Amino acid sequence: MIYLKSPAELARMREAGRIVAAILAELRQRVKPGITTAELDKIAEELMRRYRATSSAKGYRGPDRNMPPYPGSICTSVNEELVHGVPGPRRLEEGDIVSLDVAVVYKGWHADAAITVPVGKVSPKVLDLLDATEKALYVGIEHMRPGNRTGDVSAAIQRHVESRGYNVSREYTSHGIGRQMHEEPQIPNYGQPGRGPLLRPGMTVALEPMVSMGHWETRVLPDQWTVVMADGQFAAHFEHTVAVTPDGPVILTLP
Ligand code: MF3
Ligand code: CO
Repeated sequence: MIYLKSPAELARMREAGRIVAAILAELRQRVKPGITTAELDKIAEELMRRYRATSSAKGYRGPDRNMPPYPGSICTSVNEELVHGVPGPRRLEEGDIVSLDVAVVYKGWHADAAITVPVGKVSPKVLDLLDATEKALYVGIEHMRPGNRTGDVSAAIQRHVESRGYNVSREYTSHGIGRQMHEEPQIPNYGQPGRGPLLRPGMTVALEPMVSMGHWETRVLPDQWTVVMADGQFAAHFEHTVAVTPDGPVILTLP
């Protein structure tokens, strides 16, 4: 069941999205060599409180009922960690990259966005990975138009990522979002044009290409949340919550 949102509901999701964007902007500033991911989590938690929002992630139970509830307020995934990195005592070092994934619920509506940020000076190769992943997100967003199908979005993302020499995750997908953080449809970040559900005005999707320098295969750390690349190569992740409207895509997670 895909829930279509009215313009009034989209306006409420936009409010949640503005809060996510503000938190990401602050966190980006705070990323420096020496800061721990737990400190970033605490900053995010305080900002959520200030904006009267709550974390969609904290206490979240994954699809697998045996997983522990997610312990952080945000996800912080460093270097070869792809997504769902659990904040902790790890200190960021010059040359690292960190994906900051922030999802909040505000007045009953969720918004979800992520950026991957370099820590100090990082290699040109790694900067290219970040650039390719962020561009893939925007290429995908461009295809979020009424009349297209989810497969058009998936294929556009995959095409961009592979044209840059990288690989897109086969195991984790983009997703519908609204009253719940994860709603239908699930949208793989790879696939074939013309396939999948039709995009209609009022659909809202958290589009999130997850891209690796090496093979796409992952494993999960013993904390049961942190997803790492099996080959240990760096990975990047960018995400926006986007609405399909008659006038084209509208990004809800902008300042
Ligand atoms: N953007 C992430 C996702 O959709 C947010 C996950 S929060 C977590 O998977 F609690 F599941 F980690
Ligand atoms: Co998401």
